[in-house]
Amino acid sequence: MGRIVAVTNLKGGIGKTTTVVNVGAGLALKGARVLLVDVDAQGNLAMALGLKPRRTLYEVLIDGARIDQCIVAARPNLDLLPADETLLTAQPTIGARPDWPRVLEQALRPVKNQYDFIFIDCGGSLTVLNINALTAASDVLVPTTVEPFR
Ligand SMILES: Nc1ncnc2c1ncn2[C@@H]1O[C@H](COP(=O)(O)OP(=O)(O)OP(=O)(O)O)[C@@H](O)[C@H]1O
Ligand SMILES: [Mg+2]
Repeated sequence: MGRIVAVTNLKGGIGKTTTVVNVGAGLALKGARVLLVDVDAQGNLAMALGLKPRRTLYEVLIDGARIDQCIVAARPNLDLLPADETLLTAQPTIGARPDWPRVLEQALRPVKNQYDFIFIDCGGSLTVLNINALTAASDVLVPTTVEPFR
């Protein structure tokens, strides 16, 4: 089974998205099958990869869309499940569900065996979706800087 890596830090602007894109792309170049999942409503992953998302994580989590129909091929071996600002409105809806911490884990289940690595790009605070990312993850990667207020 592949690894699901949540890339997270409470601090914003610390290199989470940069880590997801570059570590993911590097592993894809080495032949690993990689999926990048954006749970940050800033939608920076699509931006970083030069893609304009048509369907997003919102549709998977809220509308019940099939996850494979919302994933796009970004590069060889490198797929993306993008996000955009619609994800902001999804959080209260998800938070009201009894199984709210496991919504992302359940959403990833149909595709997780297709990938060696799934990287989840978290936002910079403890949101419902970041907690979902930590619940779904087998590993956690915390980019940081060597400075007092990290
Ligand atoms: N290793 C690095 N050295 C220097 N600058 C970097 C490094 N990693 C990222 N940056 C720069 O720092 C800024 C923030 O990076 P990034 O967007 O990856 O952070 P983030 O933690 O995802 O931010 P956010 O919390 O807004 O999602 C960007 O301008 C990026 O180019
Ligand atoms: Mg980011």
